[in-house]
Amino acid sequence: MIVTVASFKGGVGKTTTAIHLAAFLQGYAETLLIDADPNRSALSWASRGQLPFQVVDQWQANDIPRPGHVVIDTQARPIADDLALLAATCDLLVLPTTPDILALDALALMVQHLAGLAIAPYRVLLTMIPPYPSRAGTEVREMLATTGLPLFEGGIRRYAAFQKAALVGTAVYDVKDPKAEIGWQDYVVVGREVLAAGG
Ligand SMILES: Nc1ncnc2c1ncn2[C@@H]1O[C@H](COP(=O)(O)OP(=O)(O)OP(=O)(O)O)[C@@H](O)[C@H]1O
Ligand SMILES: [Mg+2]
Repeated sequence: MIVTVASFKGGVGKTTTAIHLAAFLQGYAETLLIDADPNRSALSWASRGQLPFQVVDQWQANDIPRPGHVVIDTQARPIADDLALLAATCDLLVLPTTPDILALDALALMVQHLAGLAIAPYRVLLTMIPPYPSRAGTEVREMLATTGLPLFEGGIRRYAAFQKAALVGTAVYDVKDPKAEIGWQDYVVVGREVLAAGG
């Protein structure tokens, strides 16, 4: 399946999500991560270390045989034409958002834009959820539920292990950190939902 990760706001965990969904999907079928962000964050992540799947930019992607799964990482605030194309050419659009008001405003704007387009199904993913005793994650989840927006049941908690993974260029499960495994399990739960959504 083709999974596109997009958001209007920067720094909400798109690249981290694209890397870890690709790592999860690679466990099921050959997976390709296409870095469609001009900042090339996924490519530089891959260049720093070892990932279990191939990462290419969107130009190289044309020369590569289509694998079982494709994950596309995109730039923040995609221009309207790009967004329409991205949204129409995937099986599932994943919209990461952090549980804070600025990110939620950007999410509302994104959903408004999507409403006018013929698009693939989309689902909102809560990322960088602050640890207990913060209730931000739960509160935002309850708030989003009232809007009727489709939301992943799983959410990604905020762990320094994810920053370490970006630094050393691996998936989080290869990082030496006490929270590395539970961080990975957060993406496993979401990955299963992604596969189920793909039918
Ligand atoms: N679950 C998490 N816990 C802790 N830190 C995280 C988590 N997810 C992402 N981060 C960190 O937050 C920052 C932004 O993440 P990331 O680069 O994935 O976001 P992005 O949406 O791709 O940003 P951009 O819009 O610039 O492309 C990075 O420093 C990353 O390591
Ligand atoms: Mg990014």
